Amino acid sequence: ELAEIGLIGLGVMGSNLALNIAEKGSRIAVFNRTPSRTAEFVSEAGSLAENIVGCETIEAFVAAIRPPRPIIIMIKAGEAVDQQIDALRPLLPGGDIVIDAGNANFRDTIARFDRLKDTGLTFIGMGVSGGEEGARHGPSIMVGGTRQSYARVEKVLTSIAARYEGDPCCAWLGEGGAGHFVKTIHNGIEYADMQMIAEIYGVLRDGLGKSAGDIGAIFGQWNTGRLNSYLIEITEKVLAAADPQTGKALVDMILDRAGQKGTGKWSVIEAQQMGVPATAIEAAVAARSLSSMKAERQAAEAIFGTPRCAFPMADGAPLLKDLELALFAAKIAAYAQGFAVMAEASREFAWSLPMPTIARIWRAGCIIRSQFLDEITKAFTEQPDVANLIVTPAFSAMVQESLPSLRRIVAAAVTAGIPVPALSSALSYFDAYRQARGTANLIQAQRDFFGAHGFDRIDGLPIHHGPWGAGG
Ligand code: 6PG
Repeated sequence: ELAEIGLIGLGVMGSNLALNIAEKGSRIAVFNRTPSRTAEFVSEAGSLAENIVGCETIEAFVAAIRPPRPIIIMIKAGEAVDQQIDALRPLLPGGDIVIDAGNANFRDTIARFDRLKDTGLTFIGMGVSGGEEGARHGPSIMVGGTRQSYARVEKVLTSIAARYEGDPCCAWLGEGGAGHFVKTIHNGIEYADMQMIAEIYGVLRDGLGKSAGDIGAIFGQWNTGRLNSYLIEITEKVLAAADPQTGKALVDMILDRAGQKGTGKWSVIEAQQMGVPATAIEAAVAARSLSSMKAERQAAEAIFGTPRCAFPMADGAPLLKDLELALFAAKIAAYAQGFAVMAEASREFAWSLPMPTIARIWRAGCIIRSQFLDEITKAFTEQPDVANLIVTPAFSAMVQESLPSLRRIVAAAVTAGIPVPALSSALSYFDAYRQARGTANLIQAQRDFFGAHGFDRIDGLPIHHGPWGAGG
């Protein structure tokens, strides 16, 4: 019996995805560059091995799949993907579908999509979120490619995806790079979410002197309310974990240097490229970069010392409420920015990205999954073309309620010298976004002064340059 789908690359994500597919009842052919890994994988698959065809050669692999063959490639993003496509090409007669399920840059995906166009092969760029656990039991799946190629794989993909109240978290989002673009923005938002959580942790640890265990309990409490989400849930668990070596909190034994593989940075680059402010995401990416400069930070602390001002708010229930609401308000800004970036990209790349669908398939399975995304789904379902999430009736009410807390927390953190780059940029974003008359009149005047760049007047008079006097 021929397999319904094939998968190349039995690393952590690939193996788990293959087991998920086999478990949901589809026969799957698998291939790995090192054949011993394929044998090991099949032997460890238990009863699921019935649905798995382990292939030693790429020829046998291709022959094992029902045409038109969908082939998932789950290997490290970059050149390896092109090499794999080149190796497959002579073996695939046309009509087959190559699916890149890694965290690819969507610009590479567009290039691959175009390159394969005239070869008879079609290309799908598919974002898969949810880490190891998600791949095994239900990820969120963001598909980009032709509608026709999606039709061939829709059944398998929806069968393995996570479900939110029965609704599968898998959708076709548009042609070419649409799926990988949306996954990139998902990751940008993920960076912002994580950074904001870390900043609130910083206030609790450094401003209020709380232990990891105590902070974990606070996050646990918040997880039962409006912040309920996977990232808050794992933060509680992380903070509660003990280090087997020392018995201390494990988090206190971990070096404060965060890695990054590129998706966060790409989100910011694309946002800048399109002229859409994504300041909370930018702050989060920059914070990771600064975190990696450990030696420089140590040297700077030796010169400047630590700030001397005490945290100016008293510990207690009102402060904890403020912290919870501050995190919530900042989170709204990050999501509003992420969705605004996607709306602009949809216009620029002619994708027609479906905003309510994106929010819908992020409600379960992915790393940023939360109750909050159900609210976003509702807001975009009512107003799919709204300019910014924060002006929808539901979200503007949430902002009105939580913004004063964000302001108090940022002010207090700034006073005490605790860095809150993502929280403060979220606050400034709100303050700038809702300011009908900003300060760019001065920028325009300066530009005209030194470069005769011209300005428009508030009264509409057709005068575009100043008499600036000497030097202007
Ligand atoms: C997911 C994650 C996953 C991974 C990213 C980010 O949605 O399952 O986003 O894809 O965590 O690659 O990794 P970095 O933090 O290393 O950039």
